[in-house]
Amino acid sequence: MSDVTELIRLATEARDRAYAPYSNHPVGAALRTPSGRVFSGCNVENAAYPVGNCAEQAAIAAMVLGGEQRIEEIVVVGPGNAPCTPCGACRQRMREFAGPDMVFHACNDRDVLLTMTMEELLPESFGPENLK
Ligand code: THU
Repeated sequence: MSDVTELIRLATEARDRAYAPYSNHPVGAALRTPSGRVFSGCNVENAAYPVGNCAEQAAIAAMVLGGEQRIEEIVVVGPGNAPCTPCGACRQRMREFAGPDMVFHACNDRDVLLTMTMEELLPESFGPENLK
């Protein structure tokens, strides 16, 4: 199984556990760190809408809790066949733990639909180095 196939499987599994009763837009994310470990997460909405969390946010929290702080590749699986691209806030959240070459794939439960690098997702971004 290729690395991306494994991430698609994990992201789909996460998507299928999402709590998205308000948008009906379940999303799963799965990421791989340079050491090869993988972490996943799903979106969790809330009756107070702005309090909801994105799938990428949950996967990043799982990674940090697991003791890792670098994203090499990340897959996001939405509900259908349209690529589920990350919101602006999640682009910044990924940026915190990614170099410009990090690879993002928007996928359905089987295939890669769209691939972009971190630099393409958030060009000329502000990150931890800017505060050194
Ligand atoms: N959402 C994600 O979890 N990740 C994305 O990449 C895009 C959008 C969630 C947030 C919200 O729960 C629902 O999808 C609709 O916006």
